[in-house]
Amino acid sequence: MIHLKLKRKLPYRPTERMNVVSYPIRDIVMEAKREEAKGRKMIYLNIGDPPQYGFKPFPVIAERVKSVLDENFKGYAPSEGDEQLRKTVAKIEKCRPEDVFVVAGLTEGIDFFFHSFIGFGEKVLLPNPVYPLYLSKAKQFEGDSVFYRHDADGQIDVKNLSRKIEGAKAMVIINPNNPLGAVYSEQNLAEVVHLCSEYDVPIFYDGSYDQLTLQGKQVDFRKIAQKRVPFIYGSSLSKDFNYPGARIGWVAFHGDKWEEVKNAFFLLCNQRLSVNWEYQKAAAAAIADPSYPAYIADIKKKLMERREAFVKIAGKLPLSFPVPNGAFYAFIKIETRKWKKDLAFVQAALKEGVVFVPGSGFGRQEDGVYFRTTFLPEPHIIEEAFGNIKRIL
Ligand SMILES: Cc1ncc(COP(=O)(O)O)c(C=O)c1O
Repeated sequence: MIHLKLKRKLPYRPTERMNVVSYPIRDIVMEAKREEAKGRKMIYLNIGDPPQYGFKPFPVIAERVKSVLDENFKGYAPSEGDEQLRKTVAKIEKCRPEDVFVVAGLTEGIDFFFHSFIGFGEKVLLPNPVYPLYLSKAKQFEGDSVFYRHDADGQIDVKNLSRKIEGAKAMVIINPNNPLGAVYSEQNLAEVVHLCSEYDVPIFYDGSYDQLTLQGKQVDFRKIAQKRVPFIYGSSLSKDFNYPGARIGWVAFHGDKWEEVKNAFFLLCNQRLSVNWEYQKAAAAAIADPSYPAYIADIKKKLMERREAFVKIAGKLPLSFPVPNGAFYAFIKIETRKWKKDLAFVQAALKEGVVFVPGSGFGRQEDGVYFRTTFLPEPHIIEEAFGNIKRIL
């Protein structure tokens, strides 16, 4: 018998490309769990997960899932999405069903968008601060992230944008915005659309928090952008229906320039086979259900109460933040000089039993030290959390 003495040369190390994979909203949880293991009670304010804080998912979803479990949706669904769900979304989007793709949460839609559309060195305009997934995806697909600013009223700073827009492959808009809680006005969005159409820059519109405008007018971006600029509209069951665990999202392509990108999207959908079929059926029922407006009005009322309580509690501390007009987060600046680095502050907060996300996770913040919180929990929990961090501010 011949024994080949092969020395193993390749170490068990992740690839280079993993260096740019991050998700600060959850990456912090590992550290929090270590503190918890030492017996410390933790208050998790890092993630916008409504059911964790008593927000009940739209009941039609679970009802419909239960009933379709006995029907024959056990196989792979069509890669691009269940026909009925695509038709339902298309009705709202005022596009054709073939323009709609169902994805495993908008997370997958964002991934597919960058994968199919943003190439090496191509400029993508992102808001600053931005939901961290966009940063990570831009890096993974080697795009060039260029950040646009907000003005003092939390609106997109169109002047600033106009200096950066030339040559951009796409612009991302998140409205209502995570993490700022900003809600853009119709006029602001119309100006942005005008600029994008002048420079022929398509828009990826993230409408995850579409129905959660707490103050100000809820806008319909489709009406503003339709026929003016090509855009992709994305949303999901996670926030508007309080059912993040369903992992159902969708994107709708608007305008007649997308044919090749849609083909690419289709290939990406094929590659991962399909999204859970029973939940797609439930999504179709939920989106079209007539009881939804009353449900969401109730949710908004509860969110308003929680926002008010949060603003009162956090407002007593040396912190500043724009009052969130939508979604359920606040992006907070520390107004004392004690902290030079947001990560050090967030780690100190962990020792006090509170989990936040460092502001730098949402892009580089030039003018101070920031962190993000959610205001989803009941006021007594927010009171306890901000009472705990008072000591370290
Ligand atoms: C702005 C924004 N976009 C997309 C997502 C992804 O959500 P999902 O994949 O659950 O639809 C989130 C989740 O927090 C978000 O805040």
